[in-house]
Amino acid sequence: MLNIIIFGPPGAGKGTQSEFIKEKYNLTYISTGQILREEMAAETEIGLKVKEIISKGGLASDEIVAAIIDKFIASHADANGFLFDGYPRTVKQAEILEDLFKKYNICLSGVLSLEVPEDILVERMLERGKTSGRADDNIESIRYRFVEYDNKTKPVLDFYQQKNALHAINGVGTIEEIFGKICNVIDKI
Ligand code: AP5
Ligand code: MG
Repeated sequence: MLNIIIFGPPGAGKGTQSEFIKEKYNLTYISTGQILREEMAAETEIGLKVKEIISKGGLASDEIVAAIIDKFIASHADANGFLFDGYPRTVKQAEILEDLFKKYNICLSGVLSLEVPEDILVERMLERGKTSGRADDNIESIRYRFVEYDNKTKPVLDFYQQKNALHAINGVGTIEEIFGKICNVIDKI
């Protein structure tokens, strides 16, 4: 059973590559960003709580996302394997995920880390912002997303490096080229 985390800074291509990965390897996909956006659109209690911080480019609380992940895994007990996009993005979340894996008897196969220089990331997100309707695809929020990434999310790389679970992948190139590199890594896991 494959259980994969796709990791990378804002705009790295996590969502784009996940579409292909989940199809090819028959994985159950979870994106905390996507779920939080759905909660905001539906103006649920969670959605209203996180709206301001997410629009600014900040992270939602570890407790809120942990509850989302726990509920999701519990309700997909028949999954063939999971693909996590955008989770974990703090060391605390990585620790919580380890506990959840123990609770549900899941074994991490690997973490795929997409590496893309910041200027390309900004370009991609500003371009997407023209049509995405995402409240955080504007230059101020993008800048703050990078600050949050550097301070809170980057340390997660060390966490998985220490466990020998980290696989760095160059995230620059065509979508097909990058997917090819991802498959090469997954097929060796
Ligand atoms: P989330 O939705 O996870 O956003 P993100 O990490 O900022 O990343 P994006 O979704 O913007 O980019 P991506 O890496 O998926 O790239 P994509 O494929 O879209 O999180 C959003 C917010 O929710 C967070 O800031 C936080 O507030 C909150 N949140 C989420 N998870 C949380 C958590 N665990 N804890 C706390 N808070 C959480 O590609 C980007 C663009 O580039 C697209 O337009 C795409 O078409 C294009 N593109 C992709 N690949 C290529 C390529 N190879 N060449 C050219 N263009 C490309
Ligand atoms: Mg995404």
